[in-house]
Amino acid sequence: MPAAQKPFSCNVDVTTPAANLPRHVAIIMDGNGRWANQRGLPRLEGHRAGAESVRAIVRACGELGIGYLTLYAFSSENWSRPKAEVSALMHLLEFYLQREVAELDKSNVRLAAIGRIHELPESAQRQLQKGIEALRKNNGLTLVLALSYGGRAEIVDAVRSIARDVKTGALDIADINEDSISQRLYTRDIPDPDLLVRTSGEMRVSNFLLWQVSYAEIHVTDTLWPDFRKPQLLAAIDDYSKRQRRFGGVAPNEA
Ligand code: FPP
Repeated sequence: MPAAQKPFSCNVDVTTPAANLPRHVAIIMDGNGRWANQRGLPRLEGHRAGAESVRAIVRACGELGIGYLTLYAFSSENWSRPKAEVSALMHLLEFYLQREVAELDKSNVRLAAIGRIHELPESAQRQLQKGIEALRKNNGLTLVLALSYGGRAEIVDAVRSIARDVKTGALDIADINEDSISQRLYTRDIPDPDLLVRTSGEMRVSNFLLWQVSYAEIHVTDTLWPDFRKPQLLAAIDDYSKRQRRFGGVAPNEA
């Protein structure tokens, strides 16, 4: 069956009406270290359990019919962690990609990556490229991995690209607008997130999708990322579905 006709199966017990589903969910996956600490385990065990949550949430988002899921898997700032932890996270990423691509393909998931991908170890870059290539033709959920990602760095890269185009005459200063900036972000082909979820109770954006979350609804849960599974995702979506989005205007019933 061609990819475009792959069946959409929804066997999740959804109480949320489809019309209120966020098109794009972005998640700051936090709390792996604390989860491990609470169990007297090394931090790596928290990241391993976190990778299982990634698996469960990707599957659930696909089943729900969500269009885009962006996961903050490794920030620009995470490079300052102990070398052994950085290396373990990179190995975990490679292991996840090796193990999951076939399953992601079966679920019609497409893969994308945002961030300064060239800063990742070459083996991780290769694995990522292989996964993106293998899943390119799918048209279900787009899983976006934010890797070596920083929102400020992304804006710096966009400004550099604009400056280059102005210098060569390809872009007129008068034509610089929100759209031309959006088109130079790593997320150029991806709609802005509707729902931003942060686990482990921290009330911070942590340099994640700074430009793109301007009008996102924010859901913060105390649940640590390794404990965040389908029921917690449904709770976040339920919370989102009750919000009245005004995008800076007034609600229709107040106009
Ligand atoms: C934050 O927890 C989490 C990370 C820095 C990395 C996220 C990585 C994963 C979920 C695992 C692998 C990912 C993929 C895509 C396979 P933390 O270590 O900052 O937790 P803490 O604040 O409790 O210390």
